[in-house]
Amino acid sequence: MDLEGLRKEYRGDTEAFEEQHLVSHDPIEQFQAWFQEARQCPGIGEVNAMCLATCSRDGKPSARMVLLKGFGKDGFRFFTNHESRKGRELESNPFASLVFYWEPLSRQVRVEGSVRRLPEEESERYFYSRPRSSQIGAVVSRQSSVIPDREYLRKRNAELEEKFRDTPVPKPHYWGGYILEPEVVEFWQGQTNRLHDRIVFRRLRDRSAPLGAMTHPGHGDWVYERFSP
Ligand SMILES: Cc1cc2nc3c(=O)[nH]c(=O)nc-3n(C[C@H](O)[C@H](O)[C@H](O)COP(=O)(O)O)c2cc1C
Repeated sequence: MDLEGLRKEYRGDTEAFEEQHLVSHDPIEQFQAWFQEARQCPGIGEVNAMCLATCSRDGKPSARMVLLKGFGKDGFRFFTNHESRKGRELESNPFASLVFYWEPLSRQVRVEGSVRRLPEEESERYFYSRPRSSQIGAVVSRQSSVIPDREYLRKRNAELEEKFRDTPVPKPHYWGGYILEPEVVEFWQGQTNRLHDRIVFRRLRDRSAPLGAMTHPGHGDWVYERFSP
């Protein structure tokens, strides 16, 4: 199928995303502002859906969608199976990147940083806040392993429903959360004529280093720069 003619009109130049439109010089606060706008945007079904890219130790990347389950100054949280492909890759190479795309707003946010497991108590707390069917689902699925057919999952689900009929579902040891501590956060606003806006925050650990003419001081150890689209 030829998709060469497939393009959408972005916004007018008067709606450009300029440095003075940043609500904060802290990228987490800026993310929060965009996230809230995306949340209120009726055309966005799952505002917290994000693409998570991980990489094996020998440099082979893989990507998949996961749900953002919280964010703050310390980073971006998500939950998964530690024994899945992403879990195994994160154990051997604890760096990852996230991408959000909010199509009706023509916005993309990219986040890069290091990842660590959340404390077990936090994973437990979230596990027990989920509906029981999701708790059982987490036990049923040895994520990223090969299974014979769908019937296998149905049977296993029914067995576990029966087994835990009158008792709480124990959180599997192989299921839990991660937090990605951001080093780079990029805000991309699509515009007409492909003159898109890209404002990129990065952490500058050494604040004594002089900033270049196009590098602006941000909040705390953050600086930001405009990149060519
Ligand atoms: C919108 C969406 C949200 C998802 N959220 C999660 C999630 O929060 N955690 C998770 O483990 N898998 C989630 N998945 C499934 C993953 O994309 C993926 O299939 C699974 O985690 C196995 O990935 P892996 O084999 O690369 O580790 C989601 C899929 C979609 C499409």
